[in-house]
Amino acid sequence: MNKFRIVNGGGSLQGVVKVPGDKSISHRALILGGIAEGETTISGFLHSEDPLSTADCLRKLGVEISEIVEGKTFQVIGKGLEGLAEPKEILDCGNSGTTMRLIMGLLAGQEGKNFILTGDKSLSERPMGRVCKPLRLMGGSLFGREGNNKAPISISGEKLRGCVIGTPVASAQVKSAILLAGLTASGSTSVIEPASSRDHTERMLKAFGANIEVRGELGRNVVINPGNNLKGQQILIPGDISSASFWMIAASIIPNSKITIKNVGLNPTRIGILKVMDSMGCNYKIDEKSTIAGEMIGNIQVSTALNLKPFIIEGDILPKLIDEIPILTVAACFCSGISQIKDASELRVKETDRLKVMARQLSKFGANIEENEDGLIIKGDSKFTAAEVDSETDHRVAMSLAVASLLAKGSSKIFRAEASNVSYPKFWDDLESLL
Ligand code: S3P
Repeated sequence: MNKFRIVNGGGSLQGVVKVPGDKSISHRALILGGIAEGETTISGFLHSEDPLSTADCLRKLGVEISEIVEGKTFQVIGKGLEGLAEPKEILDCGNSGTTMRLIMGLLAGQEGKNFILTGDKSLSERPMGRVCKPLRLMGGSLFGREGNNKAPISISGEKLRGCVIGTPVASAQVKSAILLAGLTASGSTSVIEPASSRDHTERMLKAFGANIEVRGELGRNVVINPGNNLKGQQILIPGDISSASFWMIAASIIPNSKITIKNVGLNPTRIGILKVMDSMGCNYKIDEKSTIAGEMIGNIQVSTALNLKPFIIEGDILPKLIDEIPILTVAACFCSGISQIKDASELRVKETDRLKVMARQLSKFGANIEENEDGLIIKGDSKFTAAEVDSETDHRVAMSLAVASLLAKGSSKIFRAEASNVSYPKFWDDLESLL
């Protein structure tokens, strides 16, 4: 562990930043393009490790994807719903839970073909039973370590049957895997979630011509009816609000800051952080709102706010800000009072145990955080002093620690800062440009 970045405290953030493409939508554009008929063109793609893992797996499955160059539009030539090839190699999903879980759903119904999926050390410890179980209910043949819960995962493609499936956790990855499997099942498949998770798969499936219905209170019930082939589309991917969130919080807290973040995706299932920022009393406004490819976007202007109020995060809002908990934990340290994050045990099965890792790393700056089973209690009004901290290989932890370092007196060292390449390779350049 010798690679580190130094981040100096003090200063303020000024200027304009355009965050990279949405990670969730980038994965889905590749996958649906891969099983559509004809050509899909993709612009605004997130050129980072996770979506590139999905591209690599799809290429091994016989999908033609032209060279992916940062900032350039590229093409995917689809193989149709049942045309994926049996790969000679193991499919390596790297660090990406979305790649592994969505591809499990994609392959479970590829009749007569066999596949093996693997991932890095972190991914190999994350729960896959939540996807294996429903797919097995549909007649899928999926196996993994520890009672079919962990990678490597082996899949023997089967003819699947439609099912009604209630998922125990609100997870867009689980929902999406079931919907992808439902595309080739013998009848309709209905997914019912305990709370609504991000709906990019539903929106994109509709755009590609799938027969999909979103029902029930707040879209918690999604039904996919097989029979329609998907048709290649032109996809323009908006910026990722999860990447924007580091700048939204940094500019809110760091004195004398004023920034504009351009082209941010504002899908209603992703904007929980804006609700929390409202309750904190942050200064932000959104303009130039528009809709591209069925997804809302806008520019967000954020400036420093004084006397930020503490907040409580609990219940149904969790899936709408699940990836923003690490940076919101940093925010809570600078609110005046005690903030609480509850109902967040899902954080324990992300790229790292984010409750434990954020509490452990932020305490090195002097944060006062109590960890409990499903959340954190964070005392505000902190005065951070510079520290040596470690991302523990988690991209969102690395970037949250960068913001924390900006708020600390002195020069901090962030070890394994390169973890940010998973979702935001230009994070450090953008930070430099805003300082
Ligand atoms: C994602 C869903 C969420 C999120 C992850 C991306 C997706 O995970 O945390 O970063 O693209 O579907 P879960 O489905 O596990 O909640």
